[in-house]
Amino acid sequence: MRYLEPSEAGLRLPVIGQGTWGFGEDPRRHKQEVEALRRGFELGMTLVDTAELYGAGESERVVGDAIADCRASIFLITKIWPSHAEPDAMRRALEASLRRMRTDHVDACLLHWPTKSQPIQRIAQGLRALKDSGLAREVGVSNFPTAMVRETIEALGMQAGRRQGGVFFHELPYSLEDRRVELTLLPQVKDVEGVLLAYSPLGHGRLLRHQGPGFDALRGVAGRHGISPAQAALAFPAAEEGVVVLAKAATKGHVQENAESGDVVLSPEDLDRLRSAFLRSAKDIGFSLPPSQAFFSLAYGGISLMQSLHGRYRA
Ligand SMILES: NC(=O)c1ccc[n+]([C@@H]2O[C@H](COP(=O)([O-])OP(=O)(O)OC[C@H]3O[C@@H](n4cnc5c(N)ncnc54)[C@H](OP(=O)(O)O)[C@@H]3O)[C@@H](O)[C@H]2O)c1
Repeated sequence: MRYLEPSEAGLRLPVIGQGTWGFGEDPRRHKQEVEALRRGFELGMTLVDTAELYGAGESERVVGDAIADCRASIFLITKIWPSHAEPDAMRRALEASLRRMRTDHVDACLLHWPTKSQPIQRIAQGLRALKDSGLAREVGVSNFPTAMVRETIEALGMQAGRRQGGVFFHELPYSLEDRRVELTLLPQVKDVEGVLLAYSPLGHGRLLRHQGPGFDALRGVAGRHGISPAQAALAFPAAEEGVVVLAKAATKGHVQENAESGDVVLSPEDLDRLRSAFLRSAKDIGFSLPPSQAFFSLAYGGISLMQSLHGRYRA
């Protein structure tokens, strides 16, 4: 596993970490999910990303069980939903997350999506308070557009050359098929020696189901290194300085492959081949409102109903 050591902060982060979106949604999968995370820890993927939103808090309980006897060796990240963006609500939300994970702090706490319900100064004030209270060692944001990130970085006092301690974290989609971050957000994070957490590196699983020239190039690069297309796809964003890739896997075989991809070093020629096979959209990441909680509740309710019907008919 290769590691990232951002600035002088004393952090050592594996370039491949573990995501948990979708974990905790079915109690029958709880044991498998805990075991998958723990296998990932054994293989070096000791950074885990969760959120109060995932599984309506149940994902954090899965994480809590996985880290119960190894908390000190894990870099733990959670995210606060924007409806809790006000400083007091942020603190309450994080305290509830900590209770679910049975720990007294997270290593990084991020605001999950931008919101216009609070001015950036207030959001930064809330994040700084989490840090000052020791509930979060580091703070950051997720899915923020360029202009809002600039303001947040300034409000947190983390501009290049003027950083008052701490590392800025920004979580964004980054994969072969979604390279919008390369335009402005990645340079912005690099500028303050921060960490970009690359989410959905396999396009939530879709990337590997694609056919066509992009996939042919991916298979070609993978073949030359004797690795799987998934491993080559994870090694692509991991090749960027300042990037930690968040890969989600509930299957032990996938966990094993993903951890091994942390040792893969793609050559400049491989990277160029992949860049030209997967064209980058000229669009930057703009401001968009998060999918509503109502949407997630409906989807989550629908999935649970299908699962319980499936269980009933199978029994
Ligand atoms: N901040 C945000 O708004 C945001 C948004 C999306 C995601 N995220 C974070 O980023 C994490 C990763 O993104 P994601 O969950 O969207 O999806 P992803 O990691 O791009 O893809 C996950 C899917 O790929 C499969 N997979 C994993 N490893 C594989 C391998 N080696 N070979 C073949 N298939 C493999 C998984 O299957 P199995 O599970 O069956 O193993 C799962 O279906 C999330 O879990 C979450 O922590 C954050």
